[in-house]
Amino acid sequence: MARLEVDAVTKIFGASVRAVDGLSFAVADREFVFLLGPSGAGKTTTLRMIAGLEQPSDGRVLIDGRDMTWAAPRDRNVAMVYDRNSLYPHLSAYENMAYPLRLRRTPGAELDARVKRVAEILRIGELLDRAPRQLSGGQQQRVAIGRMLVRDAGLYLMDEPISHLDAKLRSHMRLEFKKLQSEFAATILYVSHDQLEAMTMADRIIVVDHGAIQQIGAPREIFQRPANRFVAGFVGEPAMNFLACEVRADGGKIAAAGDGFSLPLCAEHAAALSAVARTPKAFEIGLRPQHLAIAGNGAEDGDERESGIGGTIYAVETLGSATVFDVSVGQTVIRVQANQDALPNRAFRINDPVRIRVDTRRLHLFDRESGRAAIHPSLSRESGRLAVLGA
Ligand SMILES: Nc1ncnc2c1ncn2[C@@H]1O[C@H](COP(=O)(O)OP(=O)(O)O)[C@@H](O)[C@H]1O
Ligand SMILES: [Mg+2]
Repeated sequence: MARLEVDAVTKIFGASVRAVDGLSFAVADREFVFLLGPSGAGKTTTLRMIAGLEQPSDGRVLIDGRDMTWAAPRDRNVAMVYDRNSLYPHLSAYENMAYPLRLRRTPGAELDARVKRVAEILRIGELLDRAPRQLSGGQQQRVAIGRMLVRDAGLYLMDEPISHLDAKLRSHMRLEFKKLQSEFAATILYVSHDQLEAMTMADRIIVVDHGAIQQIGAPREIFQRPANRFVAGFVGEPAMNFLACEVRADGGKIAAAGDGFSLPLCAEHAAALSAVARTPKAFEIGLRPQHLAIAGNGAEDGDERESGIGGTIYAVETLGSATVFDVSVGQTVIRVQANQDALPNRAFRINDPVRIRVDTRRLHLFDRESGRAAIHPSLSRESGRLAVLGA
């Protein structure tokens, strides 16, 4: 159990590489927090400064309210696991895992129980007698994770610990980490570039890019109300679609209009943007593939023509439970994901003219210059749906 505060921490390598740029955040006791961002964002450097393996150029690291910025790693009660760990080659998997407990003179029965419990979770119970060279890469990594987890540390730091495991094992580990965290009442700061890991495990996500925080929030909040275009594009699979547009008054209605389309905004969005519409400004529409539907462009395919975007089929991908349509719209490709039960009752072929149906209450709008979100999906939709669910 521990509480972590990172206060305006900066790390500059050499003369000019600003790896971490004034980062501030807190992790509460027993909280599971993710640092999520692309490669090179400064995630590993941040973890290493918290663990005491790297010294900040500026700022402070506090653990349980005590300034630990300059403390030695062993005085911080922090356990860390890396993306690729090395084991002691002459020790069995069991002894590798038991090692941190032996160092702390943990009583035999407790040591044995902790190692076995963690081994069971990691599905390496049958491998405990083996030496590292008798284990596959994925098995070695699980032993390394185990060696970290057996420790009764205040704060666990995990740097992409499962990114090299195969897909099935990753999905098992996602569940188990979550269970383990509540069972051990652990405080965890977990680094990943994989938004799915963050979405499924985190209490809160800190999205970072270029050493700086882009947004902090619960997974739902990050997904539903991304603060800027970077977060919107980084979180969600398939990724959000973006279309350049202007917001302007169009035949008495306020619309987001771009290359070959014009989407009238819902009442709530129109009201929020009425001032903008008088002096047109560059925006980007953001549309989640899951919130779009596809239809033919004939009259029999529905009468909501005005809230659609016309295009042609570029590619069709079948994912089993869903189908993803890539639709060419002007110079861009828009992805539409339809669940199997929501597929239109006809086949689409490459180059077929189609219409993308847009529920305009669900659109995001980003300022093209700053990237900041100007409009999130309309809340009235959410409340409307809750009312229906409650009925
Ligand atoms: N020891 C170092 N010397 C110089 N530059 C470094 C060093 N470690 C990391 N960097 C640079 O700092 C930036 C952030 O790296 P890192 O923290 O490893 O990112 P991430 O873990 O998010 O991929 C990168 O541009 C990287 O090249
Ligand atoms: Mg890294």
